Amino acid sequence: MVINGARGRVALLLLVCAAARPAFAGDGLLQNGNFEYAPDGSQMNGTRVTGPHAIPNWESTGFVEYIDSGTTQGGMVLSVPEGAHAVRLGVDSSVRQQLSVTNGSYYSVTFSAARTCAQSEKLRLSVIPGHDDDAPNELPIQTVYSTSGWDSYSWAFIAAQDGAVTLVIHHADDGVDDPACGPIIDAVAIKTLTIPNPPYSQDGSGGSKNDLLRNGGFEEGPYMIPGSAACGVLVPPMDEDAVSPLPGWMVMSYSKAVKYVDVSGTRAVELVAGVEAALVQEVETVPGADCRMEFSVGDAGDGCAAACDDDDANGNGIGMRVTAAAGEASTSVAHCSKGGRWERGVLEFKAVESRTRVVLFSAGYHTRSDGSGTLCGPVVDDVSLVCASSTPPPARRRLLRRR
Ligand SMILES: *[C@@H]1O[C@H](CO)[C@@H](O)[C@H](O)[C@H]1NC(C)=O
Ligand SMILES: *[C@@H]1O[C@H](CO)[C@@H](O)[C@H](O)[C@H]1NC(C)=O
Repeated sequence: MVINGARGRVALLLLVCAAARPAFAGDGLLQNGNFEYAPDGSQMNGTRVTGPHAIPNWESTGFVEYIDSGTTQGGMVLSVPEGAHAVRLGVDSSVRQQLSVTNGSYYSVTFSAARTCAQSEKLRLSVIPGHDDDAPNELPIQTVYSTSGWDSYSWAFIAAQDGAVTLVIHHADDGVDDPACGPIIDAVAIKTLTIPNPPYSQDGSGGSKNDLLRNGGFEEGPYMIPGSAACGVLVPPMDEDAVSPLPGWMVMSYSKAVKYVDVSGTRAVELVAGVEAALVQEVETVPGADCRMEFSVGDAGDGCAAACDDDDANGNGIGMRVTAAAGEASTSVAHCSKGGRWERGVLEFKAVESRTRVVLFSAGYHTRSDGSGTLCGPVVDDVSLVCASSTPPPARRRLLRRR
């Protein structure tokens, strides 16, 4: 439960999505990524970190505080998602850590963040040195999606050189007067991503060998802290040329995210922001080609499907609804299952351009039935797109002639 908002009001940040301690080998937490190794006391003034190298494995700039779980600060009782400590980034402050990377490799960064006092807080993530044209991505920490007040966010980059680079998590100046104001950060982890090669779908997974979509089953995506999979990881909106933590896919929105989730052991995407955030992939198509997009719609088993009990004005159950659009066509699939069932949506259309965008979004807004106000929505998985050439294949021509 979060009762924050106006500064100075009491906020309870309760730990709901408990995280198990991950292994340090390979993909996982950065060194001291959960800030459990405390700063040297001689480089602290109260909670404020005064020396740039005080926090083991990290460098900090600006007004950075070291937070103990359970302490009360400015009328807020703080808890942290991973272990007992976290950092709070004041206005124009940052924490940074060196990473060892391979040129051209694709990395996703996952971290937990909780908004504290400002209505809207923005974090900028960057890697330096990076590609010359890389502008740091701004991640809006504006909407709190989870009951605990903590959300996991993801970001990604492609390394521009071999060896050491510096990951920077920076809280931008957002016009707040109190220099201590800013989000709390914890559980910073990294994962190397691979981009699935064509044919994109694996045989036997329901996909087609001629599938034009990359990562249509969402098996490749940002790191999830073991034990926190039920909470999911937000994939924030991004510029079209930004590197996506969900390979192949873009999240198009002004400030809203989609959530990368684990549903009974399979990775999928929960559309938590209604029509305000769309999952988009652009592929090359032959204009005039007949295309068939398929996708599965289900739920995360998180109590969201209770919306099915609501009736619209005509007395019909509303449930959840996913809209898919491509070319000039669109379709909508309703989902009313209360666990485990998937609906398969089909959209047949003619490619209009040499590039076609496949778009998926939730047609409605939903919160969990537990009264917590946690945003939720329908889950999509196993998206595929197969296009035939505009000339019918011989067998089909024969069939037409016979008629
Ligand atoms: C610690 O912070 C307080 C309050 O901001 C300040 O008055 C004091 O001078 C600081 N102490 C040191 C040793 O910097
Ligand atoms: C990184 O790899 C790219 C592509 O292979 C190459 O053009 C570039 O020079 C490399 N950069 C460094 C610093 O090695």
